Amino acid sequence: MPAQLLAAEKLVKTFGATLAVAGADFSVYPGEIFGFLGPNGAGKTTTINMMTGLMRPTSGRTLIDGVDVACRPVEAKRLFGYVPDEPQLYGKLSALEFLNFIGDVYGLDAATRKPRILELLKIFELSGEQSHLIESYSHGMKQKVALCAALLHAPRVYFLDEPTVGLDPKSARLLKDLLRQAADAGAAVFMSTHIMEIAQALCDRVAILHHGDIVGMGSVAELRASSAEQTLEEVFLSLTGGSNHTSAPLFGRPA
Ligand SMILES: Nc1ncnc2c1ncn2[C@@H]1O[C@H](COP(=O)(O)OP(=O)(O)O)[C@@H](O)[C@H]1O
Ligand SMILES: [Mg+2]
Repeated sequence: MPAQLLAAEKLVKTFGATLAVAGADFSVYPGEIFGFLGPNGAGKTTTINMMTGLMRPTSGRTLIDGVDVACRPVEAKRLFGYVPDEPQLYGKLSALEFLNFIGDVYGLDAATRKPRILELLKIFELSGEQSHLIESYSHGMKQKVALCAALLHAPRVYFLDEPTVGLDPKSARLLKDLLRQAADAGAAVFMSTHIMEIAQALCDRVAILHHGDIVGMGSVAELRASSAEQTLEEVFLSLTGGSNHTSAPLFGRPA
């Protein structure tokens, strides 16, 4: 197996008395799409924030292609693309201006940058609005600009925090295809999701997170084999505390 591109080493984060992440420890290898699966509040975003250097871990560390994010942040940040759970863009720029700015940040020369920006805008069907201010975009369009920004410098490592939320089915499909292509070309993709179908369809391996603890890790087939359950959704529900059915019916028959 080739060397890992991404390593989380015993990452812990506490907020006061809350243990948000309880020692996340895993590696992602070139060619892999790794899914970080967990219900709301499980600690997915906190883990990504630590791995991308946006938040200091209480303890533990992250290596990106061997570079420690906390010790060499600038070098580490050049190595990955990141799509946050909420797009963080500049509303007073157009998509074209914003992506050119991102190209500057990553030091892409004009000859590489220009065709790639236009191609990304085209495949995400933003060409018609590329000169409009981002503040006029819908949430889904902003999400697509954030994806273009993460893909622009063709990094070897991707972090995506619930990337399909807000995307229409066609764009979600496009994103899946692009991530698969990136992985097939040797990238390591780390994505969080609470949507089982996405994990099952897209991820080579998954970790299931529950109250900050990784309670299961492996390929979908391995997780199924290690459990009496048949589908990833059933494995997930059994590992994260059942299906939460209420004992009293919430809905009666309409009068
Ligand atoms: N900045 C913060 N301050 C205090 N508690 C936080 C903060 N960020 C996250 N948490 C808590 O950490 C836990 C994990 O949150 P989060 O990582 O956002 O979960 P997820 O992304 O899986 O939905 C939750 O209990 C949340 O309330
Ligand atoms: Mg989150």
